[in-house]
Amino acid sequence: MSARLIIPQIIASLLTMTGKKILLGVSGSIAAYKIPLLVRLCVKAGAEVKVIMTPAAAQFVSPLVLSTLSKNEVLVDISAESQWANHVMLGRWADIMLLAPASCNTLAKMAQGLCDNLLLAVYLSATCPIMIAPAMDEDMWHHPATKQNLATLSSYGHHIVPAEHGELASGLVGTGRMAEPDTLYTQLQQYFLQAASLQGIKALVTAGPTYENIDPVRFIGNYSTGKMGIALAESLAERGCEVELILGSTPLECKHPRVHTTRVRSAEQMFEATTKLFPDCRLAILSAAVADYTPQIVSTEKIKKKDDDLSLTLVKTKDILKELGKVKTEQQVLVGFALETQQAESYALQKLNEKNADMIVMNSLQDAGAGFGFDTNQVTLFVKHGEAVSLPLQSKKAIADHIVQHITPLLA
Ligand code: CTP
Repeated sequence: MSARLIIPQIIASLLTMTGKKILLGVSGSIAAYKIPLLVRLCVKAGAEVKVIMTPAAAQFVSPLVLSTLSKNEVLVDISAESQWANHVMLGRWADIMLLAPASCNTLAKMAQGLCDNLLLAVYLSATCPIMIAPAMDEDMWHHPATKQNLATLSSYGHHIVPAEHGELASGLVGTGRMAEPDTLYTQLQQYFLQAASLQGIKALVTAGPTYENIDPVRFIGNYSTGKMGIALAESLAERGCEVELILGSTPLECKHPRVHTTRVRSAEQMFEATTKLFPDCRLAILSAAVADYTPQIVSTEKIKKKDDDLSLTLVKTKDILKELGKVKTEQQVLVGFALETQQAESYALQKLNEKNADMIVMNSLQDAGAGFGFDTNQVTLFVKHGEAVSLPLQSKKAIADHIVQHITPLLA
């Protein structure tokens, strides 16, 4: 590669890290010996680094080395020389907290919310995004408890940098090595680049099912869980968006600090909340499974069993996507979903036009592993005046990331 091409890359990389506040949590693993290199890379790129260590980590790498390289005091204990370490302010100071290496023990405590050292107190009170680079021996890495702990931490919205394959402290060769300092540095850089890509954009997402009451004990609902919409809200927030999530009846929630959730139950409540928030938003993604019909009369008393037949009169709900399509401005981008069981493509294209959307994300219930309740999805994106893009079966979060990538140029 020529110097002409390399120099702009170096400048972009330095700008990405300049002034960023990185809180590094080091726990007890032999991989801690690599952390001085990571600190040096970050500091050289203009980032400010503060290091917290568990007492066990201080046996593997000297706090003096890390304080010299970071040019900041390294904290190990919650109180020392009658001074109390303000764990709350440290978590608020940081743009990101990276736990590297995260030992098996520290991972388990984080997943359980235990708090018996300064590092855990800072982690539990941190309001910034969290990145975790585990390090352990292979058998520990494959243990179901470790897998469960990592899944729990992932469900909190934390970014896991997977352990790598190679020589381990035990002398065995396998998976469990902490990612190399270069890889961790690149992950931090990518995080900061991505975090700024949609900064300043306000977005609205609808998700989950709506429930239409029949009487005090019964309702008409559907099988939607809201997983896809929550993944979209997270994906937008990770890129810097402020997100208004309008969430139907689901036990799931979105914990990202930039996602503000409004809980609704019925189609009418979802309509009210959405139309109120839409004028302030540049982007709206309507992924909710909204009831198309609702009982004309909601009985105030439980309907008693009498005749062999019972007829309920249902009336049409308001089509939220269609209503937003009518009022949307040139600057606003509107994305709808289409869940189909037959003639999926032609129905999706019909929705794109009739509802004046900029993009329709089509789900087909014919595809295995796609649709309500699954952790995976397979979709096709139809963009106004654009080519259809098919995304293969993958996690709903990965699908959400792709959808957001395809929406980003529409916001330019
Ligand atoms: N939608 C909506 N309000 C409704 C019904 C649907 O905003 N009352 C939105 C959904 O959130 C989705 C899109 O419209 O983004 C398409 O929903 P879908 O249920 O697939 O289609 P419908 O328009 O309801 O038509 P049909 O059920 O006949 O396929």
